[in-house]
Amino acid sequence: REIQLIEVKSELGAGTRGASMGVDAIKTAALDFGSRFFKQYPSVEVPNENHLLFESSGSPYAKRISGVLTVCERVADEVHKTFDLKKFPVILAGDHSSAIGTMAGIHKAYPKKRLGVIWVDAHADIHSPYTSTSGNLHGMSISASLDEDNLTQKVNQPDQETLNYWFQLKNVGAIAPKIVSRDLVYIGARDIEPPELYLLNKKKIKNISVSSFRKLGVERVLTDVMSYLDQCDMIYVSFDVDCMDPSISRGTGTPVQNGFTEREIGNLIARLCGYPKICCFEIVEVNPTLDTENLMAENAFEILVRAINALTND
Ligand code: ARG
Ligand code: MN
Ligand code: MN
Ligand code: MN
Repeated sequence: REIQLIEVKSELGAGTRGASMGVDAIKTAALDFGSRFFKQYPSVEVPNENHLLFESSGSPYAKRISGVLTVCERVADEVHKTFDLKKFPVILAGDHSSAIGTMAGIHKAYPKKRLGVIWVDAHADIHSPYTSTSGNLHGMSISASLDEDNLTQKVNQPDQETLNYWFQLKNVGAIAPKIVSRDLVYIGARDIEPPELYLLNKKKIKNISVSSFRKLGVERVLTDVMSYLDQCDMIYVSFDVDCMDPSISRGTGTPVQNGFTEREIGNLIARLCGYPKICCFEIVEVNPTLDTENLMAENAFEILVRAINALTND
């Protein structure tokens, strides 16, 4: 497969500043390791809207949603274009809200195919403006791609303008919903808020916990996940670095205790990327401003290299 790296240096969907520098931190890590990786794999960059950080954040239930919408539309176009060029998109992004654009782009390229999603994350990211307490859109990527708003417990009352933007965000790429809950698998989700848990239970969404991952071992996890997603035509893997334990590095905006080791995630991702159905891989949420010695970016870079080696069978 021919790889196309796509950079999304956006952080509008996060509540802590700095995630837009994650991509450059990964490049710095590569240089420090003496790697020619970014020379071998040139990237395209999606323009960001980070100037909006200097303005008011707008709705408390969906902060900077107009900017997130713009970025997601651009990501969708770039991902679509990548597929049209018969290349495999590998996305390096800031905050996780850009994943809405990723899923939209996959659908634009393959409107008739059934998309499975493997969400490797400490979080479920299944809030909406109706439920979020932070209002940060990186906690809403999954629900923007599903169609479960009617099932959700509505604790907030967003205004009409916010709901219009939310509707547009759900419709990026002109296809909604982008996934069905049956085709979603979480790996490592452990910081799940009540309205999120309500949906997970209601829709019986699969979540492989850190402890069951360890009990089963990576090979059985893979067989389990791939047979669960058997009916999907293509599978997208989104890797939020906060799935790893904060003892490894705190270089991410929303770290959560009791996470994976770098090795566990590296093994999982490398093996996943060996499956022909995998159509897109993404790394998000590296925030070097919260780190020491750029550790998170170094880990992310090592995992990225393992992923690319598996994808290109080097
Ligand atoms: N659940 C929290 C929220 O909605 C944290 C979300 C963190 N998401 C992420 N992609 N890091 O604010
Ligand atoms: Mn096309
Ligand atoms: Mn997360
Ligand atoms: Mn996430």
